[in-house]
Amino acid sequence: MTEVTLAVVGGGLRGLTYARHAHATGAGRVVAVAEPDPRRRAAFAAEFGVRAESAFPGWKELAAADRLADAVVIATQDQLHTDPAVALADLGYHILLEKPMAPNEREAARIAEAARRNGIMLAVCHVLRYTPYTRAVRDLLDSGRIGRLISAQHLEPVGWWHQAHSFVRGHWRREDTSAPMLLAKACHDIDWLVHLFGRPPARVSSFGSLSHFRAEDRPASAADRCVDCPLEPSCPYSAPRLYLGCLGDPSSEFWPLSAVTPGRTREAVLEALRVGPYGRCVYACDNDVVDHQEVVMEFDDGATCSFTMSAFTPMEDRRTRLFGTHGYVDGDGRTLRVVDFRTGEEELVDTTAWGASEEASSAGAGAAEGSAGASAADGHGGGDEGLVDAFLAAVASGDPSPLRSDAFESLMTHRVVWAAEQARRTGSVVTFRPHA
Ligand SMILES: NC(=O)c1ccc[n+]([C@@H]2O[C@H](COP(=O)([O-])OP(=O)(O)OC[C@H]3O[C@@H](n4cnc5c(N)ncnc54)[C@H](O)[C@@H]3O)[C@@H](O)[C@H]2O)c1
Repeated sequence: MTEVTLAVVGGGLRGLTYARHAHATGAGRVVAVAEPDPRRRAAFAAEFGVRAESAFPGWKELAAADRLADAVVIATQDQLHTDPAVALADLGYHILLEKPMAPNEREAARIAEAARRNGIMLAVCHVLRYTPYTRAVRDLLDSGRIGRLISAQHLEPVGWWHQAHSFVRGHWRREDTSAPMLLAKACHDIDWLVHLFGRPPARVSSFGSLSHFRAEDRPASAADRCVDCPLEPSCPYSAPRLYLGCLGDPSSEFWPLSAVTPGRTREAVLEALRVGPYGRCVYACDNDVVDHQEVVMEFDDGATCSFTMSAFTPMEDRRTRLFGTHGYVDGDGRTLRVVDFRTGEEELVDTTAWGASEEASSAGAGAAEGSAGASAADGHGGGDEGLVDAFLAAVASGDPSPLRSDAFESLMTHRVVWAAEQARRTGSVVTFRPHA
């Protein structure tokens, strides 16, 4: 297959993840990077052999050069997607764009419009659409095995320490600097549920709040930082326990530890916790995003779906139950338990075995690692690899069919998220119109 050349905007955790997989399969080659952090930029350029003149301090400098690659990966932080996406679409790059597309509907619509105007392929990184597990669930529904889908129950178990890392102490803790948590975290789940039902909901409601990680919940003797806190050993959200525990494990050192410090020693971690944001008491941060939220959706035929996102869980694969007229499915992100109402028989489908080869061949390149775990460090159950393989296959062939959604489909599922947020804030049921 033709090798696709790539520019990467944002040489952070996600940019690296996609670049590494593209190189590993040989389907893509990074030829340019835009990254303001000099250390990250130099390391990125060295790892992928990017020439000095193609290593830029930011996306604007990259956009000022001629088009340097077939496609660009945009993996900057949430509020810095729109301007690079529009500018680079105007230069004719195909785009792999991190989610969320943008913090609001107006900007996301600008991005989709730029993709249409320039006739480029733009895939939003909804990695869950690309897992072998998702393929298996979709096939089950499409085959009619459980009849008509009447309702669904879906859980996103964020995980107590993941909530503390990303949504209390980390980048995604505030709506004004990132996005509401439903957009930052669960736009994946809403996108996935719309994908399963095959259409957007007709009506949406939602409830949720920040109930725990607040000053009111702070124990009287807690210190502002874990390293000074007498309660640290017994606190579930101890930063030293979490981050010192990453040392020695390459996967945990990549994520979550590299968001905290580039150091890989006990001293470097403790120093980051003494001075940096990740050492703060979870009850003394400037966070405002929710720690639990429900979304209830009703579809045009009366089918319903309830979705729960919660911090107060282990960090695990999502759980889903599907209730059909002729059968029932209970999925844990890897295995599906299928009960057939016609026979009463049960089948266990192990999608880690089921999917890997089929996913790889449907994506056209590489091998989706169906056994990978749920987290970003683990590649989202094969979704990261599946997405990159599909995107590179689409760009190489000029045929978008390996992509499981285009810019307008992603815009539509983001709009469901904004409808749910509107419902939560106003305490109302919002009628969803698929077109703005
Ligand atoms: N698809 C997924 O499952 C998934 C998982 C995690 C994060 N994300 C999303 O990926 C995005 C990136 O997250 P991350 O964890 O890699 O963040 P990160 O902070 O590690 O990386 C972002 C990088 O962008 C760089 N940057 C800042 N300004 C820039 C500019 N002007 N030009 C070029 N680069 C610039 C930063 O220096 C940083 O290195 C976010 O939008 C996040 O929500 C998606």
